[in-house]
Amino acid sequence: MKRIGVLTGGGDAPGLNAVIRAVVKTAVNDYGCHVLGIKNGLDGFLMPGGVFPLTPAEVRGILPRGGTILGTANRGNAYARKVVQDGKEVIVDVSTDIVQAIKEQKLDALIMIGGDGTLRFAHDLYLRGIPVVGVPKTIDNDIHGTEVSFGFDTALNIATEAIDRLHTTAESHQRAMIIELMGRDAGFITLHSGVAGGADVILIPEIPFRWNSVLQKVLDRKARGSSFSILAVSEGAKAQDADPIYNRPGDQMYVPRLGGIGQKLGEYLEANGIETRVTVLGHVQRGGTPSAFDRWLATRYGSAAVRVAAARHFDRMVTLAAGHITDMPLLDAIAIPKRVDPHGEEVVTARSIGISFGDE
Ligand code: F6P
Repeated sequence: MKRIGVLTGGGDAPGLNAVIRAVVKTAVNDYGCHVLGIKNGLDGFLMPGGVFPLTPAEVRGILPRGGTILGTANRGNAYARKVVQDGKEVIVDVSTDIVQAIKEQKLDALIMIGGDGTLRFAHDLYLRGIPVVGVPKTIDNDIHGTEVSFGFDTALNIATEAIDRLHTTAESHQRAMIIELMGRDAGFITLHSGVAGGADVILIPEIPFRWNSVLQKVLDRKARGSSFSILAVSEGAKAQDADPIYNRPGDQMYVPRLGGIGQKLGEYLEANGIETRVTVLGHVQRGGTPSAFDRWLATRYGSAAVRVAAARHFDRMVTLAAGHITDMPLLDAIAIPKRVDPHGEEVVTARSIGISFGDE
Protein backbone atom coordinates (compact mmCIF):
# COMPACT_ATOMS: atom_id res chain seq x y z
CA MET A 1 0.00 0.00 0.00
CA LYS A 2 1.68 3.18 -1.24
CA ARG A 3 -0.97 5.82 -1.64
CA ILE A 4 -4.31 6.27 0.12
CA GLY A 5 -6.91 9.02 0.06
CA VAL A 6 -9.15 10.21 2.88
CA LEU A 7 -12.29 12.34 2.70
CA THR A 8 -15.12 13.45 4.96
CA GLY A 9 -18.70 13.54 3.65
CA GLY A 10 -22.11 14.58 4.94
CA GLY A 11 -22.73 16.85 7.94
CA ASP A 12 -19.70 17.40 10.14
CA ALA A 13 -19.41 15.74 13.55
CA PRO A 14 -17.00 16.25 16.44
CA GLY A 15 -14.17 13.74 16.06
CA LEU A 16 -13.67 13.95 12.27
CA ASN A 17 -10.23 15.50 12.72
CA ALA A 18 -9.27 12.76 15.17
CA VAL A 19 -10.06 10.14 12.50
CA ILE A 20 -8.07 12.05 9.86
CA ARG A 21 -5.10 12.34 12.23
CA ALA A 22 -5.19 8.63 13.08
CA VAL A 23 -5.39 7.70 9.39
CA VAL A 24 -2.33 9.80 8.56
CA LYS A 25 -0.27 8.66 11.55
CA THR A 26 -1.08 4.96 11.11
CA ALA A 27 -0.51 5.05 7.35
CA VAL A 28 2.84 6.81 7.73
CA ASN A 29 4.13 5.05 10.86
CA ASP A 30 3.05 1.49 10.10
CA TYR A 31 3.02 1.36 6.29
CA GLY A 32 5.29 4.20 5.09
CA CYS A 33 2.38 5.23 2.94
CA HIS A 34 1.52 8.61 1.35
CA VAL A 35 -1.83 10.05 2.34
CA LEU A 36 -3.85 12.41 0.16
CA GLY A 37 -6.56 14.59 1.65
CA ILE A 38 -9.63 15.23 -0.51
CA LYS A 39 -11.38 18.57 0.02
CA ASN A 40 -15.15 18.93 0.50
CA GLY A 41 -16.12 15.29 0.18
CA LEU A 42 -16.14 13.88 -3.34
CA ASP A 43 -16.14 17.44 -4.74
CA GLY A 44 -12.39 17.60 -4.15
CA PHE A 45 -11.73 15.14 -6.96
CA LEU A 46 -13.19 17.62 -9.43
CA MET A 47 -11.67 20.80 -7.94
CA PRO A 48 -8.29 22.31 -8.86
CA GLY A 49 -6.11 21.64 -5.78
CA GLY A 50 -8.86 19.50 -4.27
CA VAL A 51 -6.50 16.55 -3.74
CA PHE A 52 -3.41 17.40 -1.71
CA PRO A 53 -0.71 15.63 0.34
CA LEU A 54 -1.63 15.18 3.99
CA THR A 55 1.48 14.78 6.08
CA PRO A 56 1.90 14.28 9.84
CA ALA A 57 2.83 17.98 10.07
CA GLU A 58 -0.58 18.94 8.69
CA VAL A 59 -2.49 16.91 11.25
CA ARG A 60 -0.49 18.18 14.22
CA GLY A 61 -2.71 19.87 16.81
CA ILE A 62 -6.05 18.93 15.22
CA LEU A 63 -7.12 16.26 17.74
CA PRO A 64 -9.24 18.59 19.92
CA ARG A 65 -10.58 20.63 17.02
CA GLY A 66 -14.22 20.36 15.93
CA GLY A 67 -15.28 20.31 12.27
CA THR A 68 -13.07 18.79 9.60
CA ILE A 69 -9.84 20.21 8.21
CA LEU A 70 -10.80 18.63 4.87
CA GLY A 71 -14.15 20.36 4.56
CA THR A 72 -17.26 18.40 3.71
CA ALA A 73 -20.33 18.46 1.48
CA ASN A 74 -23.79 17.72 2.80
CA ARG A 75 -26.01 16.76 -0.11
CA GLY A 76 -28.74 14.21 -0.51
CA ASN A 77 -27.09 12.94 -3.65
CA ALA A 78 -23.33 13.06 -3.98
CA TYR A 79 -23.60 12.57 -7.72
CA ALA A 80 -25.93 15.51 -8.31
CA ARG A 81 -24.16 18.75 -9.08
CA LYS A 82 -25.64 22.17 -9.80
CA VAL A 83 -24.16 23.64 -12.97
CA VAL A 84 -25.07 26.57 -15.18
CA GLN A 85 -26.04 25.54 -18.73
CA ASP A 86 -27.27 28.14 -21.23
CA GLY A 87 -27.58 30.65 -18.39
CA LYS A 88 -29.81 28.31 -16.35
CA GLU A 89 -29.00 26.29 -13.21
CA VAL A 90 -29.47 22.57 -13.85
CA ILE A 91 -28.63 19.44 -11.87
CA VAL A 92 -26.39 16.96 -13.63
CA ASP A 93 -25.02 13.53 -12.74
CA VAL A 94 -21.24 13.79 -12.68
CA SER A 95 -20.59 10.37 -11.16
CA THR A 96 -18.68 9.15 -14.22
CA ASP A 97 -16.37 12.17 -13.97
CA ILE A 98 -15.86 11.50 -10.25
CA VAL A 99 -15.04 7.83 -10.78
CA GLN A 100 -12.65 8.76 -13.57
CA ALA A 101 -10.97 11.44 -11.43
CA ILE A 102 -10.56 9.02 -8.52
CA LYS A 103 -9.02 6.39 -10.82
CA GLU A 104 -6.55 8.98 -12.14
CA GLN A 105 -5.24 9.39 -8.59
CA LYS A 106 -4.16 5.72 -8.61
CA LEU A 107 -5.12 5.24 -4.97
CA ASP A 108 -4.53 1.90 -3.27
CA ALA A 109 -7.47 2.75 -1.00
CA LEU A 110 -9.94 5.55 -0.41
CA ILE A 111 -11.11 5.98 3.19
CA MET A 112 -14.54 7.62 3.26
CA ILE A 113 -15.69 9.00 6.62
CA GLY A 114 -19.41 9.72 6.68
CA GLY A 115 -22.97 8.88 7.56
CA ASP A 116 -25.39 6.58 5.76
CA GLY A 117 -25.47 8.77 2.61
CA THR A 118 -21.69 8.87 2.21
CA LEU A 119 -21.37 5.18 3.06
CA ARG A 120 -23.98 4.29 0.45
CA PHE A 121 -21.98 6.21 -2.16
CA ALA A 122 -18.85 4.44 -0.92
CA HIS A 123 -20.47 1.12 -1.78
CA ASP A 124 -21.54 2.45 -5.20
CA LEU A 125 -17.98 3.57 -5.86
CA TYR A 126 -16.67 0.13 -4.92
CA LEU A 127 -19.01 -1.40 -7.48
CA ARG A 128 -17.43 0.96 -10.02
CA GLY A 129 -13.92 -0.19 -9.22
CA ILE A 130 -12.81 2.07 -6.35
CA PRO A 131 -11.14 0.34 -3.34
CA VAL A 132 -13.11 1.95 -0.49
CA VAL A 133 -13.17 1.54 3.29
CA GLY A 134 -15.88 3.33 5.30
CA VAL A 135 -15.78 4.95 8.74
CA PRO A 136 -19.15 5.63 10.46
CA LYS A 137 -19.77 9.23 11.49
CA THR A 138 -22.91 10.93 12.69
CA ILE A 139 -24.15 12.69 15.76
CA ASP A 140 -27.51 10.98 15.14
CA ASN A 141 -26.09 7.50 15.92
CA ASP A 142 -28.39 6.04 13.27
CA ILE A 143 -25.95 3.70 11.52
CA HIS A 144 -27.16 0.19 12.12
CA GLY A 145 -23.79 -1.53 11.70
CA THR A 146 -22.07 0.04 14.68
CA GLU A 147 -22.94 0.30 18.35
CA VAL A 148 -22.02 3.95 18.31
CA SER A 149 -20.72 6.43 15.76
CA PHE A 150 -18.25 9.09 16.85
CA GLY A 151 -19.83 12.52 17.31
CA PHE A 152 -22.82 11.15 19.17
CA ASP A 153 -21.25 11.38 22.62
CA THR A 154 -20.24 15.03 22.16
CA ALA A 155 -23.70 15.99 20.84
CA LEU A 156 -25.27 14.18 23.76
CA ASN A 157 -23.13 16.06 26.27
CA ILE A 158 -23.97 19.40 24.67
CA ALA A 159 -27.70 18.58 24.67
CA THR A 160 -27.58 17.44 28.29
CA GLU A 161 -25.81 20.60 29.39
CA ALA A 162 -28.42 22.67 27.56
CA ILE A 163 -31.24 20.81 29.34
CA ASP A 164 -29.50 21.36 32.70
CA ARG A 165 -29.31 25.08 31.96
CA LEU A 166 -32.97 25.24 30.93
CA HIS A 167 -33.93 23.49 34.16
CA THR A 168 -32.77 26.31 36.38
CA THR A 169 -34.49 29.06 34.43
CA ALA A 170 -37.66 26.96 33.97
CA GLU A 171 -37.87 26.47 37.71
CA SER A 172 -37.29 30.16 38.48
CA HIS A 173 -40.09 31.28 36.14
CA GLN A 174 -42.47 28.33 36.54
CA ARG A 175 -42.51 27.75 32.80
CA ALA A 176 -42.58 24.88 30.39
CA MET A 177 -39.32 24.74 28.48
CA ILE A 178 -39.17 22.94 25.16
CA ILE A 179 -35.83 22.03 23.66
CA GLU A 180 -35.81 20.84 20.04
CA LEU A 181 -32.87 18.55 19.33
CA MET A 182 -31.27 17.08 16.23
CA GLY A 183 -31.22 13.44 15.16
CA ARG A 184 -33.23 13.43 11.94
CA ASP A 185 -35.45 10.29 12.05
CA ALA A 186 -33.67 8.78 15.07
CA GLY A 187 -34.41 9.79 18.65
CA PHE A 188 -31.15 8.76 20.31
CA ILE A 189 -29.84 12.26 21.13
CA THR A 190 -33.19 13.30 22.57
CA LEU A 191 -33.79 10.09 24.53
CA HIS A 192 -30.32 9.90 26.04
CA SER A 193 -29.97 13.59 26.85
CA GLY A 194 -33.58 13.77 28.00
CA VAL A 195 -32.98 11.01 30.52
CA ALA A 196 -29.54 12.36 31.49
CA GLY A 197 -30.95 15.88 31.91
CA GLY A 198 -34.09 14.82 33.81
CA ALA A 199 -36.68 15.85 31.20
CA ASP A 200 -40.34 15.27 32.05
CA VAL A 201 -41.48 14.66 28.49
CA ILE A 202 -39.44 13.11 25.67
CA LEU A 203 -40.84 13.11 22.15
CA ILE A 204 -38.99 11.04 19.55
CA PRO A 205 -39.76 10.04 15.95
CA GLU A 206 -40.08 6.37 16.89
CA ILE A 207 -43.00 7.03 19.29
CA PRO A 208 -45.65 9.29 17.72
CA PHE A 209 -47.33 11.42 20.39
CA ARG A 210 -50.79 12.81 21.18
CA TRP A 211 -50.98 16.56 21.83
CA ASN A 212 -53.43 16.10 24.67
CA SER A 213 -51.26 13.53 26.39
CA VAL A 214 -48.31 15.98 26.46
CA LEU A 215 -50.52 18.73 27.88
CA GLN A 216 -51.90 16.35 30.49
CA LYS A 217 -48.39 15.47 31.70
CA VAL A 218 -47.56 19.16 32.21
CA LEU A 219 -50.91 19.77 33.98
CA ASP A 220 -50.42 16.70 36.20
CA ARG A 221 -47.04 18.00 37.26
CA LYS A 222 -48.57 21.37 38.11
CA ALA A 223 -51.31 19.66 40.11
CA ARG A 224 -48.65 17.79 42.09
CA GLY A 225 -46.77 21.02 42.85
CA SER A 226 -44.13 21.03 40.09
CA SER A 227 -44.79 24.35 38.44
CA PHE A 228 -42.29 23.86 35.63
CA SER A 229 -41.71 21.16 33.01
CA ILE A 230 -38.89 20.25 30.64
CA LEU A 231 -39.82 18.80 27.27
CA ALA A 232 -37.04 17.33 25.11
CA VAL A 233 -38.33 17.04 21.54
CA SER A 234 -36.61 15.49 18.52
CA GLU A 235 -36.71 17.55 15.34
CA GLY A 236 -38.27 14.46 13.73
CA ALA A 237 -40.94 13.91 16.40
CA LYS A 238 -44.45 13.68 15.00
CA ALA A 239 -47.99 13.58 16.31
CA GLN A 240 -49.95 10.38 15.82
CA ASP A 241 -51.47 10.30 12.31
CA ALA A 242 -49.34 13.27 11.24
CA ASP A 243 -46.12 13.76 9.31
CA PRO A 244 -42.96 15.30 10.78
CA ILE A 245 -42.58 19.05 10.30
CA TYR A 246 -40.12 20.30 7.69
CA ASN A 247 -38.94 23.85 7.31
CA ARG A 248 -37.56 23.18 3.84
CA PRO A 249 -38.65 20.57 1.30
CA GLY A 250 -36.08 18.28 -0.28
CA ASP A 251 -34.93 18.36 -3.89
CA GLN A 252 -32.47 16.47 -6.09
CA MET A 253 -29.55 18.02 -4.20
CA TYR A 254 -30.71 18.18 -0.60
CA VAL A 255 -32.73 15.99 1.74
CA PRO A 256 -35.76 17.71 3.34
CA ARG A 257 -34.79 19.80 6.37
CA LEU A 258 -36.63 18.98 9.61
CA GLY A 259 -37.57 21.73 12.04
CA GLY A 260 -40.50 23.45 13.70
CA ILE A 261 -42.08 20.82 15.92
CA GLY A 262 -40.79 22.56 19.08
CA GLN A 263 -42.40 25.85 18.06
CA LYS A 264 -45.66 24.13 17.18
CA LEU A 265 -45.77 22.33 20.52
CA GLY A 266 -44.97 25.59 22.31
CA GLU A 267 -47.89 27.32 20.60
CA TYR A 268 -50.17 24.44 21.57
CA LEU A 269 -49.17 24.57 25.25
CA GLU A 270 -49.51 28.38 25.35
CA ALA A 271 -52.96 28.14 23.77
CA ASN A 272 -53.83 25.86 26.67
CA GLY A 273 -52.64 28.27 29.34
CA ILE A 274 -49.08 27.01 29.91
CA GLU A 275 -46.41 29.68 29.69
CA THR A 276 -43.82 28.14 27.40
CA ARG A 277 -40.47 28.99 25.85
CA VAL A 278 -38.83 27.13 22.98
CA THR A 279 -35.12 26.59 22.37
CA VAL A 280 -33.87 25.09 19.13
CA LEU A 281 -30.35 23.85 19.89
CA GLY A 282 -29.46 23.25 16.23
CA HIS A 283 -25.90 23.08 14.99
CA VAL A 284 -24.44 23.86 18.42
CA GLN A 285 -24.79 20.09 18.84
CA ARG A 286 -22.30 19.50 16.04
CA GLY A 287 -19.79 22.22 16.72
CA GLY A 288 -16.78 22.58 18.97
CA THR A 289 -14.34 20.29 20.63
CA PRO A 290 -15.05 16.53 20.68
CA SER A 291 -15.47 14.69 23.98
CA ALA A 292 -12.70 12.37 25.20
CA PHE A 293 -14.88 9.39 24.26
CA ASP A 294 -15.31 10.64 20.68
CA ARG A 295 -11.59 11.35 20.30
CA TRP A 296 -10.80 7.85 21.54
CA LEU A 297 -13.39 6.16 19.31
CA ALA A 298 -12.47 8.28 16.27
CA THR A 299 -8.78 7.47 16.71
CA ARG A 300 -9.52 3.74 16.91
CA TYR A 301 -11.75 3.92 13.82
CA GLY A 302 -9.18 5.86 11.78
CA SER A 303 -6.30 3.58 12.67
CA ALA A 304 -8.39 0.43 12.04
CA ALA A 305 -9.54 1.75 8.66
CA VAL A 306 -5.92 1.89 7.49
CA ARG A 307 -5.31 -1.69 8.64
CA VAL A 308 -8.46 -2.85 6.83
CA ALA A 309 -7.24 -1.07 3.69
CA ALA A 310 -3.76 -2.61 4.01
CA ALA A 311 -5.37 -6.05 4.22
CA ARG A 312 -7.24 -5.15 1.00
CA HIS A 313 -10.59 -5.76 2.67
CA PHE A 314 -12.53 -3.26 0.59
CA ASP A 315 -16.22 -2.40 0.54
CA ARG A 316 -16.17 -2.69 4.33
CA MET A 317 -16.86 -0.34 7.24
CA VAL A 318 -15.02 -0.26 10.56
CA THR A 319 -17.42 -0.74 13.42
CA LEU A 320 -17.67 -0.98 17.20
CA ALA A 321 -19.14 -4.29 18.36
CA ALA A 322 -19.27 -5.25 22.04
CA GLY A 323 -16.53 -2.71 22.78
CA HIS A 324 -14.15 -4.01 20.09
CA ILE A 325 -13.28 -2.45 16.75
CA THR A 326 -13.94 -4.79 13.86
CA ASP A 327 -15.22 -4.40 10.29
CA MET A 328 -18.20 -5.55 8.26
CA PRO A 329 -19.56 -5.30 4.70
CA LEU A 330 -20.60 -1.73 3.94
CA LEU A 331 -23.97 -2.74 2.57
CA ASP A 332 -24.84 -4.76 5.70
CA ALA A 333 -23.84 -1.79 7.87
CA ILE A 334 -26.34 0.52 6.20
CA ALA A 335 -28.98 -1.97 5.00
CA ILE A 336 -31.47 -0.87 7.63
CA PRO A 337 -31.39 2.39 9.58
CA LYS A 338 -30.82 2.23 13.34
CA ARG A 339 -33.72 3.54 15.39
CA VAL A 340 -34.72 3.68 19.06
CA ASP A 341 -36.65 0.51 19.91
CA PRO A 342 -39.98 1.81 21.26
CA HIS A 343 -40.29 -1.34 23.39
CA GLY A 344 -36.61 -1.68 24.31
CA GLU A 345 -34.94 -1.35 27.68
CA GLU A 346 -33.96 2.30 27.14
CA VAL A 347 -37.57 3.41 26.67
CA VAL A 348 -38.79 1.09 29.44
CA THR A 349 -36.24 2.67 31.81
CA ALA A 350 -37.35 6.18 30.88
CA ARG A 351 -41.01 5.28 31.44
CA SER A 352 -40.17 3.60 34.78
CA ILE A 353 -38.69 6.83 36.10
CA GLY A 354 -41.83 8.75 35.17
CA ILE A 355 -40.92 10.26 31.80
CA SER A 356 -43.83 10.65 29.39
CA PHE A 357 -43.45 9.91 25.67
CA GLY A 358 -46.78 11.60 25.05
CA ASP A 359 -48.39 8.40 23.82
CA GLU A 360 -50.43 7.31 26.82
O1 F6P B 1 -27.30 14.08 10.36
C1 F6P B 1 -26.79 15.05 11.22
C2 F6P B 1 -27.69 16.25 11.30
O2 F6P B 1 -27.11 17.17 12.19
C3 F6P B 1 -29.13 15.94 11.67
O3 F6P B 1 -29.29 15.70 13.04
C4 F6P B 1 -29.82 17.18 11.16
O4 F6P B 1 -31.17 16.93 10.84
C5 F6P B 1 -29.05 17.49 9.90
O5 F6P B 1 -27.79 16.88 10.03
C6 F6P B 1 -28.87 18.96 9.62
O6 F6P B 1 -28.20 19.07 8.42
P1 F6P B 1 -27.61 20.44 7.86
O7 F6P B 1 -26.24 20.60 8.43
O8 F6P B 1 -27.61 20.23 6.40
O9 F6P B 1 -28.52 21.55 8.32
